[in-house]
Amino acid sequence: MAWELNGRTALITGAASGIGAALARALAARGMRLGLVDVDGDALARVAATLPGAVTEVADVRDRAALDTAVEDIVERLGRLDVAVANAGIATGGPARMVGPDAFEDTIDVNLLGVWRTARSAIPYVLEQRGYLLLVASAAAVVPAPGLAAYSASKAGVEGFGRALRAELLPHGVAVGVGYYLFLDTPMVREGERMAGFNRMKKGLPNPISRTWPLEPAIDATSRGIERRARRIAYPPFVHGLMALRGLLDNGVSDRITSRLVPGMEAAFTEEAQRVGPDAAARPPRR
Ligand SMILES: NC(=O)c1ccc[n+]([C@@H]2O[C@H](COP(=O)([O-])OP(=O)(O)OC[C@H]3O[C@@H](n4cnc5c(N)ncnc54)[C@H](O)[C@@H]3O)[C@@H](O)[C@H]2O)c1
Repeated sequence: MAWELNGRTALITGAASGIGAALARALAARGMRLGLVDVDGDALARVAATLPGAVTEVADVRDRAALDTAVEDIVERLGRLDVAVANAGIATGGPARMVGPDAFEDTIDVNLLGVWRTARSAIPYVLEQRGYLLLVASAAAVVPAPGLAAYSASKAGVEGFGRALRAELLPHGVAVGVGYYLFLDTPMVREGERMAGFNRMKKGLPNPISRTWPLEPAIDATSRGIERRARRIAYPPFVHGLMALRGLLDNGVSDRITSRLVPGMEAAFTEEAQRVGPDAAARPPRR
């Protein structure tokens, strides 16, 4: 039976763009009151301006104290917290042995530790409402790709964290979901396509994994998943199949298929790194 969202509250990190902003609009349309968090204050204000009643806090998910304060302020202003969506994330790319170490470590800091910090801040309030936590991972947790080592590691970490947390919170009436998406049409993917190594890798993956999928159906699937307090939310739907087959997909043949992409990706990354350095080459161009 669906969990009535109308009148409930949700906190979303990374709400200033892409999935977070679109999900905020979809949940507002279902009658939810929203607390939106992002590190990019200007973009967050633009999103909130279209969502009457939404409250915002500018915070970096790498900063535990700032996030604690932001969540506390949001709960104070909304009065309660039923749903928390740990969505803020970054994408970096390039061969792990070549990328600047800060780019690799920032990816883990934002994507994995940022999700842990968000969950940690939100759990006491979500427990009071016997609510729902959604941790945004990625299909990269299930099918890691060369050139996405840091990203895949961070997202596999989110999945592992979410699955353990799900069991821990079940006796307390809180449900925990993990989100898995393939490439969706958001600024993250559009900017990634402007990075030489990432673009080479994406284009070389087998179809339909290499496709960029429209955002709105993924957001519909996510809103419906929140209504069902789903354990897993995935888009496109065949990602559920990839999850069921993951043990079979992890073999020498799949390694050989994806490793064919490596020489081209290494060459593209090397050229870019010579121009801008190995850290900048691993990150999307600035917005
Ligand atoms: N777009 C995809 O194809 C895709 C696929 C799978 C998973 N995801 C995941 O979905 C989430 C959202 O991705 P998106 O495509 O909407 O990206 P996006 O770049 O459009 O939006 C990400 C948002 O997170 C914010 N953010 C980044 N670092 C932050 C920090 N340190 N503290 C607070 N906010 C921060 C950004 O300012 C931005 O508003 C990410 O976790 C991403 O890894 C995306």
